[in-house]
This record gives sequence, structure tokens and C-alpha cells, in this order.
Amino acid sequence: MSGVELSHWIMSKKTNFCGLLVMGCFFSVFLFFDGKYGNPSMYEMQPSAALLESKKNCRTLLFQNTTADKKQPDSESKDIEKILNKQRASISNDMKGYQYPNENNSMSVSKLEDLLMEKNGTPIRSIIVTSWRSGSTFLGDIVNAHPANYYYYEPLLAFDIVRVRGPPLAAKALKWITDLLNCEYQDLDEYLSYAKETPWALSYNRYLWKQCKAHKDVCYNRNFHSSLCKLFPFQLMKIVRLRLQVAQELLTDEKLAVQMVLLVRDPRGILQSRKHRDWCPPSPDCSEPALTCADLVSDYKVAVELQKKYPSRFKVIRYEDFSLDPYKQAEELYKFYGLFFHPETKKFLDTHTKTNRDEVWSTFRDSKAAPFHWRTELTFEEVEEIQESCTTAMKYWGYVPAMNASHQKEFNPVTNYVLKL
Ligand SMILES: *[C@@H]1O[C@H](CO)[C@@H](O)[C@H](O)[C@H]1NC(C)=O
Ligand SMILES: *[C@@H]1O[C@H](CO)[C@@H](O)[C@H](O)[C@H]1NC(C)=O
Ligand SMILES: *[C@@H]1O[C@H](CO)[C@@H](O)[C@H](O)[C@H]1NC(C)=O
Repeated sequence: MSGVELSHWIMSKKTNFCGLLVMGCFFSVFLFFDGKYGNPSMYEMQPSAALLESKKNCRTLLFQNTTADKKQPDSESKDIEKILNKQRASISNDMKGYQYPNENNSMSVSKLEDLLMEKNGTPIRSIIVTSWRSGSTFLGDIVNAHPANYYYYEPLLAFDIVRVRGPPLAAKALKWITDLLNCEYQDLDEYLSYAKETPWALSYNRYLWKQCKAHKDVCYNRNFHSSLCKLFPFQLMKIVRLRLQVAQELLTDEKLAVQMVLLVRDPRGILQSRKHRDWCPPSPDCSEPALTCADLVSDYKVAVELQKKYPSRFKVIRYEDFSLDPYKQAEELYKFYGLFFHPETKKFLDTHTKTNRDEVWSTFRDSKAAPFHWRTELTFEEVEEIQESCTTAMKYWGYVPAMNASHQKEFNPVTNYVLKL
């Protein structure tokens, strides 16, 4: 049992509040200090409201005396300057011998400075738009294996388990995302204070996290975030909370110059995988087949338009296709984003696509089997129920319906699709 599961179990046993608080604190510390791969159960975890509440209470204990307020401002900015200088040197070291292969990007890039915001350059900004349990942690990790990548993992966590489909949330979501990509933190206090309560999300950004572990006093300081962010030539963001209808706004911003991938998965696989996440069932946005598939239909229609409008900046990937041929697909993905298919990435694929360590949360897996577990894990009745709500979504995205229980166990559920209405 992982730490998070254990703490959920304890809560379900209705331990008294004090015990709960102590356990919450313990696990927050545990999550805070644990390395990224030390605890695969962290993948795509969504904390329950109760856990968040207990974290909020103990956050006060944990961080009260470690935040920046107790330091003098100029000694603090000197500290930050020192950290930045070291980070700058380490990035330029990591970038030695880098090949700039991005003929597909709108800008021409031949040297590091062209990509650095602190030198008035524009970083390569790679976005993954998808929904919960569609393989985006896996895809995100593959892109994040690239050096000098500043990873925003689920920037909209504070929005809770909702899908943003339009007003009133859309404007706020887009503002947060744009500010983060521009390294502008002056209006992001709510983002930072949420990050403070759920530090595991920041830990996906290995560069930021390394600094946070070493310099806890500046970890949630907005000037620090802003200056650190501007040092990085590459940014990656994965977002499960936006429908493509909303996310497409990001493509209209020429200065931001984002490259966007829509990641799609078979709704039967999505819903099977979500069933076992206790944060999911209470939210209809997450657990209702009809809502999930309405989003898939809407995403398809928008994707058809975006493919025409931005053929070099927008791309669709189905999780199943990616998993069946991860090397070729990862290479294509890198090419699309304008990234050099780095030896580090090959190494990541070698170690993360072939074994199966039998951990629900792990991205160490047999990637060919992972997308298809639903065929044996769901009953035919469950599959039928999903298929009834998902006929159109499945037709658009090329997923074949199962006809009966024995068919379900052996058929190939994936066929071709064409982005055309
Ligand atoms: C924070 O520091 C103050 C004085 O420096 C001390 O009185 C207080 O107990 C500390 N709080 C915690 C939670 O450690
Ligand atoms: C540009 O992108 C397209 C579509 O993803 C791809 O087919 C093509 O090979 C890319 N060109 C280069 C030079 O990377
Ligand atoms: C199940 O469906 C398949 C494909 O339609 C069909 O060939 C097979 O006869 C069916 N089996 C049963 C037991 O109905």
C-alpha cells in the first residue's frame, strides 16, 4: 500500500481529527521529500478533499517558519541570484552539443540564447492537452526526459476535479496558463499557495524541485519562480482539465508560439482506469461516460479545424498508437515539438517501456499491454454501458465496439481514424 492509499484508508476508518492531522502531516512530509521516482504512486494522483484539508492545517506547521517573509529582502534576492547563476551554468552545460532540429517551428533557432526569455528569446513550448487517465503522465515523462526542460505538471490542479469547457472558468484557466508560460507570477499567488499545499505536483519539475529541496525558504517565492523559469530554453505543460475548445486559444497567441498535442484514448480504457481512483467517482466530469464522450466528440470537431488551421503546430496522438510503437512515436513527437531526440530520451524509453513492475501508478510498464487492460478488467455489461454513451466518440476516433463477452477478450479495439467531418 502506498502512502497516499494508506492515508485514505486511515481516513475512511474515521480516525479522530488529531490522528488524522498527524498522519496528514506525516505524509505531506513524506510526499514533500520523496524523490520523483521514489514513489510511483504519485503519478497523476489527485488528493481527496479530506487529505487537502489536513494538509492545509499542517502546512501551517510545516512552512510557517520556512517561508521567505522572515528574511531581509536584499539578502533574499542575493540568495536567489546565487541560485540562478548556478542554474544558468548548469543549463548551458547540459546544452553543450545540442542539435537544434526545429525546422518545423515558426521561428528559426540556432543557438541557446534564441530560446532564453532572459535574453529576449522564445522557449520551445510543448503542450499536451488531454483528460484524466489518458496516458499523459507517460507522454509527459517522455518529453520531460529531454534536458533543460521546465515542466508544468497539471497547472490547474487548484481547479479541482473539473473539466473547463467555457465561461466562467475558461478565462481564469487561460490566464494562469499564459502567465506560467510567460514566467509572469505577479497574479499567481493562488497558484503558488495551492502548490505549497500540494508540493508533489511541483516535484515533476526536476529542476525546480531540486532547488526547492535545497532552498526551502524561496521555494514558493514568486520572484524566484519567475526568474528561474526564464532561464530555461524548453517548457512542457500537460493539462487534463481543458477541453480543446478552450485550449485552442493558446494557439492564437503568435508570440507564445506553442506547439500543441491532443492526446486521445479509448473511453473504455479511460473509464476503467478512472474507476479505481477515489478522487474520480464523486465528480461527474471524471466518472460519467456521457460527459467523457461528449468531450471526445467536441475535441474531435475542434481537432479537425485546428489540423487545417495550424498543420505544423497542432497534432493528434492516440494513446494506443503511441504505446504500441513508443520509439517511433516518441521520435515523431520530438520532431513535431522541434526537440532534438536526445540520448537521454532513448535511455528513458529503454527503461520505461519494457518492464511491468505491477504498480498501478507506475509509468514503468509493458507499454504495449497498458492501454488494453480494460478488455479483461471490465465486464461486458460495463463495456456495453460505456459503448451506449460513446457511439459517436468511438466512431470518430476509430475505436471498435465489443459485441459480446468473448469478443471483448480477444478483438482488436483500435482501427484507423481520419480527421475529417
Ligand atoms: C516560528 O518561529 C517563532 C519565532 O521565531 C516561534 O516562536 C514559533 O514557535 C515558530 N513556529 C513553528 C511552528 O515552529
Ligand atoms: C514537420 O512536421 C511534419 C508533421 O508532423 C512531419 O511530417 C515532417 O517530417 C516535419 N519536418 C521536419 C523537417 O521535421
Ligand atoms: C460474439 O461476437 C462475435 C463477433 O461479432 C461473433 O463472431 C460471435 O459469434 C459472438 N459470440 C457469441 C457467443 O455470441
